[in-house]
Amino acid sequence: MKKKIVLSGIQPSGKLTLGNYIGAMQNFVQLQHEYDCNFMVVDLHAITVTQEPEALREQSEAVAALFIAAGIDPNKANVYMQSHVPQHAQLGWIMTTLTSMGELERMTQFKDKSSGKDSVGAGLFVYPSLMAADILLYNADLVPVGEDQKQHLELTRDLAGRFNHRYGDFFTIPEPYIPKVGARVMSLDDASNKMSKSNPNAGSYIALLDSPAEIRKKISRATTDSGREVKYDPASKPEVSNLISIYSQCSGLSIEEVEKRYEGQMYGPFKKDLAEVVVAKLEPIQERYRQIRESGEITDILRQGAERAEELAARTLAEVQKRMGFLPKA
Ligand code: TYM
Repeated sequence: MKKKIVLSGIQPSGKLTLGNYIGAMQNFVQLQHEYDCNFMVVDLHAITVTQEPEALREQSEAVAALFIAAGIDPNKANVYMQSHVPQHAQLGWIMTTLTSMGELERMTQFKDKSSGKDSVGAGLFVYPSLMAADILLYNADLVPVGEDQKQHLELTRDLAGRFNHRYGDFFTIPEPYIPKVGARVMSLDDASNKMSKSNPNAGSYIALLDSPAEIRKKISRATTDSGREVKYDPASKPEVSNLISIYSQCSGLSIEEVEKRYEGQMYGPFKKDLAEVVVAKLEPIQERYRQIRESGEITDILRQGAERAEELAARTLAEVQKRMGFLPKA
């Protein structure tokens, strides 16, 4: 039987956080053993807000290297830059023409990112149509993402259905793959916000490349509550529940096992151990990351990944253009 197809992407904007790792990247690593996987650094999405050229170059390479450092095997999965496969932008435009303004106006991520801004780029508005193109170019069955991308996935499914309805069945309707625990890792200073690399307070997130000392400091300062029970109850103990969930994801213990381990103990020892659990998870990734950056191997990995991806993408785009009535190039 044909293997199912997986696609996902991460933006090269700022430092990746533990939220990106728990919500997305660690699932990429697991899925590569069972599926045909495509993992991209989505630079075309990153430029929907202004990027410094030098920073964009550095972060693009850094994110690609982190994919590999986290355990993605470039012989198993295609790892590439979105901009290296031009069909993304091409199908992105086509998807934009299939999307209505109303659909884009309803996107909560757009509302969040544009609120309070004097000037908002049109690219930020049509961002979800490009994301749909990313997914549909490979006829992906499964899209591993965190909770915040669910609405974009729903739009992708609608667009695939719309295309199929107008031009005949072609696109696979993709399913989101959202983890049960860890789909929304919250900020360390405010558990009503998701952990995000764009938060100006660096104490609110753990970056994947934070040093052990920084990780210990950030966790020791993480907000808790006035209670004293290490108990998972997101509604009434959102901060502590978030920390328990991070502990569980980084240690492999279940939520119940974590609760049991700290029964009758105060937050202090729990947070101290949590810091060590996170450090133990990230240190080997950081070590591999440094080796990969030094070796320069990422250039070849990205070239090969893009070559393989482009072959698949070109086939899809040609079929889409044919169905829509584009005059073929002689
Ligand atoms: P991005 O770059 O914002 O985030 C990358 C992935 O990390 C997940 N994530 C989180 N998960 C749990 N808790 C958090 N605090 C947290 N923060 C981020 C995100 O859900 C995402 O899975 N639009 C996408 C990138 C994209 C894409 C695609 C994804 C472009 N094309 C095609 C899938 C398929 C984004 O901005 O992710």
